[in-house]
Amino acid sequence: MNKIIVSLLLALGLAGAVQAAGDPAAGQAKAVVCGACHGADGNSQLANFPKLAGQGERYLLKQMHDIKSGARPVVEMTGMLEPLSDQDMADVAAYFAGQKMSVGAAEAALVERGQDLFRGGKLAEGMPACTGCHSPDGSGIATAGYPHLGGQHADYVAKQLTAFREGERSNDGDSMIMRDIAAKLSNKDIDAISNYVQGLH
Ligand code: HEC
Ligand code: HEC
Repeated sequence: MNKIIVSLLLALGLAGAVQAAGDPAAGQAKAVVCGACHGADGNSQLANFPKLAGQGERYLLKQMHDIKSGARPVVEMTGMLEPLSDQDMADVAAYFAGQKMSVGAAEAALVERGQDLFRGGKLAEGMPACTGCHSPDGSGIATAGYPHLGGQHADYVAKQLTAFREGERSNDGDSMIMRDIAAKLSNKDIDAISNYVQGLH
């Protein structure tokens, strides 16, 4: 009996693993509707629509699940993920992850402050450097689900940091990693970091 249950569980586990792997070619066709805002290859032109190109697959998939469930409310995307199955979302995530995020320009006047914060954190206040999780070149740690930031629109990044600080975005888990960090950032810090990130590569 136990043997049967074990092999059943194994079969289910394997089926789950196979299903979870995204197919980028299938994802491209399913991502057409997303291109209207995020750009056909995931490099959106407008600063309030995040770039998805080159973003980590695991992070993308988590955000899609969070947006679909309402854990991360995105009014602009209301109902949009409803028709997509878990497999569809995995395919779309694989497609965008395989693209390359374009890099923007940073305003020179803000770069130094932004770089100091990004690389050094605020040790006196116990705020770690961003590089530990988002890496020095801003590419993140895809396998850990730490998002790629380098090249992302400054306006979007600033909006997210403010939302984490105000608790309006709360899908960073029970450890509240990003809410705790953003709580230590002033508006000027957020401006400087977001500007730095936009030009980072
Ligand atoms: C009408 C415009 C619009 C369309 C179409 C749209 N999105 Fe979005 N999406 C947004 C906006 C706006 C945000 C960011 C909201 C915010 O500021 O938090 C977003 C955020 C996201 C994020 C989170 C990105 C990040 O860096 O955290 C993902 C993933 C995403 N969208 C996937 C999709 C997918 C997949 C589709 C197609 C099925 C899609 N979106 C279609 C407007 C759109
Ligand atoms: C201990 C790890 C860690 C550190 C340090 C960290 N982050 Fe994050 N960050 C995360 C994780 C994990 C997420 C994704 C949360 C989720 O799943 O929604 C995230 C998300 C973000 C996002 C949202 C990205 C998007 O596309 O919406 C921004 C912006 C961000 N972090 C900026 C920063 C900045 C700036 C710093 C330094 C001041 C920093 N982070 C430090 C782990 C970290």
